[in-house]
This record gives sequence, structure tokens and C-alpha cells, in this order.
Amino acid sequence: MDKLAPNAALAVKTLPDAQTVTSVRHWTDRLFSFRVTRPQSLRFRSGEFVMIGLLDDRGKPLLRAYSIASPSWDEELEFYSIKVPDGPLTSRLQHIRPGDEIILRPKPVGTLVLDALLPGRRLWFLATGTGIAPFASLMRDPETYEKFEQVVMMHTCRTVSEMEYGRQLVEGLRDDPLIGEFVGDKLKYYPTTTREDFHQMGRITDNLASGKVFADLGIQPMDREHDRAMVCGSLAFNHDVKAVLEGFGLREGANSEPQEYVVEKAFVGDGI
Ligand code: FAD
Ligand code: A2P
Repeated sequence: MDKLAPNAALAVKTLPDAQTVTSVRHWTDRLFSFRVTRPQSLRFRSGEFVMIGLLDDRGKPLLRAYSIASPSWDEELEFYSIKVPDGPLTSRLQHIRPGDEIILRPKPVGTLVLDALLPGRRLWFLATGTGIAPFASLMRDPETYEKFEQVVMMHTCRTVSEMEYGRQLVEGLRDDPLIGEFVGDKLKYYPTTTREDFHQMGRITDNLASGKVFADLGIQPMDREHDRAMVCGSLAFNHDVKAVLEGFGLREGANSEPQEYVVEKAFVGDGI
């Protein structure tokens, strides 16, 4: 399988949208992150996604949507990826190494942007699995902390090791020379597992609906006047969390019509 990656990467060099991989980190056997060079002309809003990929066996671009995990001010672009066994793209992409090239279409889009929310006091980032990627971008953007007094990052995975990327990112923020002063003590991190013992457990939907997260963090329950939310997970998660947010009185918005919360799929394919 490994032999496909260098070939695919070499072939990409002939395309105008090729970018060079600068670093790769494997977090588990199912998760990895990597950084690539940033096209000089690429402007994006933190939270947006682009299409990235490799050439397939017939030399055609094989592209998938990926949230940009780095903030809009970063010189490089970071991505956080699943490794789907037999997945057309990720069965190859997981083998990239520094110096390889990938295709990156420089047309960022998406609803998880600060502009799609009405002004508020507190911002909630609600993610499962790789759904944390757009928030890895937004958590590193000074504008997030300029616009909101408090930011709560809820991230839920089945196991503890699946949360390591997010944990290290959040823990590094306060001491980060570039973003640390903006973050201060505004960011509250609430990671939970559902299938392995951890000091905090449970689904995001349950922890919001029961009020457990408010009690644990010592904060007021959500309300429409003060709270704004961004959601990124599986279709089932997005569906269920929307119902919980609506229960607190929040309404779904979009770029064209800002409201109290916005939603994006972390991936397609689990029905509903
Ligand atoms: P695919 O044929 O695309 O997927 C095969 C199956 O694997 C899917 O049916 C689904 O059941 C499962 N799957 C796919 N992606 C995931 C995932 N991320 N987590 C859990 N199960 C999954 N993926 C990322 O890893 N990181 C991202 O930042 C990211 N951002 C996305 C943003 C948007 C708006 C969308 C729509 C998708 C995003 N995805 C992201 C999913 C990504 O587009 C691909 O599906 C993924 O890279 C797998 O590609 P593949 O060709 O190997 O398998
Ligand atoms: P659970 O273990 O209880 O299913 P997955 O790996 O299946 O995408 O799930 C990632 C995380 O999201 C898991 O912790 C899972 O909890 C949780 N999750 C999955 N579906 C939902 C849902 N509909 N509502 C809330 N949490 C969900």
C-alpha cells in the first residue's frame, strides 16, 4: 500500500494546485495530522474547509472536503485526518511524508465562521471525533476572543487517545507567544469519552441537556441572549445536538442570515 503514496505524490507535482507536506504526526492508528505549504493567494476565514487530495491510479484528482485546522494567520495549513481502512483517499493520504505533495483547491467555504453568528457573550464549540478540526482553527484565532468573553470547547470521542490532538492543542494555547494573551482564561475545555474510563464522561447532548457541563464548569445554563454555538460531528450527532440547542432557544443561522448557532458535517456517510 505504501508504494502508492510516493507515486501519487510525485504525479501531483504536475498540477497547478500542488502543495508540499512540511510535517506529519500520527496520533493513533486511526488519526493523524499534517501541515502543508500555504498558497500565497489563499485567504480564508478560520473554520472554513477546502478540497484536498491526491491523484488516483488513473491520474485523476481524488479530492475530499477537509476543514483547515490552522488559523487564518498561520503561514502554513494544518489538517487533522481520519484514516479510513480502504477509504479511497485516506488509505493513501495516511502515508504522506514531509516533501510529498498533495492537491489543494484554494476555494475555502463553510458555515462555521464567526460572521455567521449574531454577537453574544459566550461561544460553544461542540465536536465529536475529527469534528474538532474547524475549532482547532477558531481556537487559535484572536478574533474569537475579541468577539466573545468566554469560549467553551466540548469534544467527545470514544476513547482517551482519540482526544490527544485536541488536548495538546488546548494546553499549548495559554503559553503560545502569538495567541496566548488573547486566550487568557477565556477558554474552557470540556473533553469527554463515551467508551473508556475518563474523569469526565458522556455524550455532549446528554451533558448539555442534563445541565452537567454547566454545573461542572460552574457557569450559567445556555440562553438565547448570551450563548452562541458551532457544531461539527457526524450527521447523527449534528441532528441530535441541534434539538438540544433549539431546546435552549437557539436558532440555526448561516452566512447569509446570522443567528445563534451554525452546523457543519464532519463527514458524510452514517445515514439519518
Ligand atoms: P470516504 O469514502 O470519504 O469515507 C468512507 C467512510 O468513512 C464514510 O462513509 C464515513 O462512514 C467514514 N468517514 C469519513 N470521514 C470520516 C471522519 N472524518 N471521521 C469518521 N468517519 C469518517 N475528514 C477528516 O478526517 N478531517 C476533516 O477535517 C474533514 N473535514 C470535512 C469537512 C466537510 C465539510 C466534509 C463534508 C467532510 C470532511 N471530512 C473530514 C471527511 C472527508 O471529506 C473524507 O470523507 C475522509 O477524508 C475520508 O476519505 P476517504 O476517501 O478515505 O473515505
Ligand atoms: P457513543 O460512544 O455513545 O456512540 P463515532 O466514533 O461513532 O463517530 O462517535 C464519536 C463520538 O460521538 C462518540 O463518543 C459517540 O458516543 C458520540 N456520538 C455519536 N453519535 C452521537 C449522537 N447522536 N449524539 C451525541 N453523541 C454522539
